[in-house]
Amino acid sequence: MEPDFQSYRDVVHTAKDLPTLSSVVHRLHEMIRNPNVSAADIGQLIAQDVALASTTLKLVNSAFYGLSQKVNSVTHAIVILGFNKVKNIALAASILKAFENCKSTDFDYLGFWEHSIGTATAAEVLARSLRSPYTDEAFISGLLHDQGKLILVQYFPEEFQKVSTLIHTNRITMHKAEQEVMGFDHSLVGTWLAEKWKFPEHLSLAIRMHHKPAMARQHNELIQIVHTADILCRALNIGNGGDPFISELDTQIWTQMNLTEQRVDDLLGDISTGMSNASEFLELVRQ
Ligand SMILES: [Fe+2]
Ligand SMILES: [Fe+2]
Repeated sequence: MEPDFQSYRDVVHTAKDLPTLSSVVHRLHEMIRNPNVSAADIGQLIAQDVALASTTLKLVNSAFYGLSQKVNSVTHAIVILGFNKVKNIALAASILKAFENCKSTDFDYLGFWEHSIGTATAAEVLARSLRSPYTDEAFISGLLHDQGKLILVQYFPEEFQKVSTLIHTNRITMHKAEQEVMGFDHSLVGTWLAEKWKFPEHLSLAIRMHHKPAMARQHNELIQIVHTADILCRALNIGNGGDPFISELDTQIWTQMNLTEQRVDDLLGDISTGMSNASEFLELVRQ
C-alpha cells in the first residue's frame, strides 16, 4: 500500500514560511536555457542581488576552485568556470542562506551541513575521476541530497523525534527509521522542496533516488555518484549523516563505476584534500 504522504506533501507545498531562494536564482535557471545568452547577461543578473553576487564571488575565489588569479566579477567567473558551474555556485550560496533559521532547533545543523558539503565534495571528486558529463552538477546535487531532513526537523518535529529515538533503539539508518515512522523518507520530502523551488529534473532525481540508485531510470550516473559520495563521506567521518552507520555500497555500482580498492583509497585522499579547501562553504553555515 502506498504510504499516505499526501498530507505531508501539502504541508510543504503550502507552507508560507518555507525558506525562499533569491528570485535571481529562479531567473538564472530560465536564462541559462537560452542558447544566445552571454556571460555578461548572466553576470548582470547575479549582480542585481548584491549579497548573492558577493557570496558567489567569495566561493569562486575559495581554495576549493583553485583559481590562479583572483576573480572580481561574476562575468569573469563565468568565462573561467563556465555557465553551469557559476549557476550552481550561486544556487549553493542562495540555499545555504535560505536555511539559516534552522539553527535555532536542537538539530545538529552544523554537522548536517558538514555532511552535505562533504558529500558535495566527494561527488565532485568522483564525477571528475569518472570524467562524467555530470561533473558540473555533482557538487550541488551532493550538497542538497539530504535537504528533506531540514524540512522534517522544521515542519514535522514529532516524527523527527520518533525517528531519532528509533535510530538508536533499533540501530537502523535514518532513512529506514523514517520509513518505519512515516512510510517514506527524507529523500521524498527533499523532492517536494525541489518541486516547490522548480529544480531541474536531474537535481530533483538525485535527491529522490540517492538511497535507491539501483531503481533509477534516468540520470543514473548522477544518482550513483551522489549515493557513493554519501557513503564515502560517512567512511571519512565528515559531519553528521543523521545516523552512525555506513551503508554497504551496491556491488553493481562498484562494478559500474569501476571502483577498485586502490581507486577508493585515491578518492578518499582527494576528498579529504577537497574538504580542507571547502572552508568558505562551511563558513557560510557557521555565520
Ligand atoms: Fe539521505
Ligand atoms: Fe546523506
